Amino acid sequence: PEITFIDFAGNETKVDVPNGTSLMQAAMENMVEGIEAECGGSGSCATCHCYLTTDWQGKIAGPNSNESDMLELVSDPKDLSRLSCQVTVSDEHHGLQVHLPQSQY
Ligand code: FES
Repeated sequence: PEITFIDFAGNETKVDVPNGTSLMQAAMENMVEGIEAECGGSGSCATCHCYLTTDWQGKIAGPNSNESDMLELVSDPKDLSRLSCQVTVSDEHHGLQVHLPQSQY
């Protein structure tokens, strides 16, 4: 599926992401800046914060309790905040837009 990453300045990077890849892995593998991912995807660092868009609300399963707890640590959390390592891409995500925060800290 095609995923578009949009950095804080508004620059878009469209990438074709294999099913089963996390949004965090997709960003790292495609040199998308704005994700730190210090823990490597175990959901324990909160430096892979991103925002989904309202049109995807309800179409993607929400964060589990661990992710919700970690999202309280990010700077500038919003309703559609997610940890990008906790969202696994599948066909139904085709066309998803992922916005990146100004800072991971
Ligand atoms: Fe650490 Fe996502 S990479 S919480």
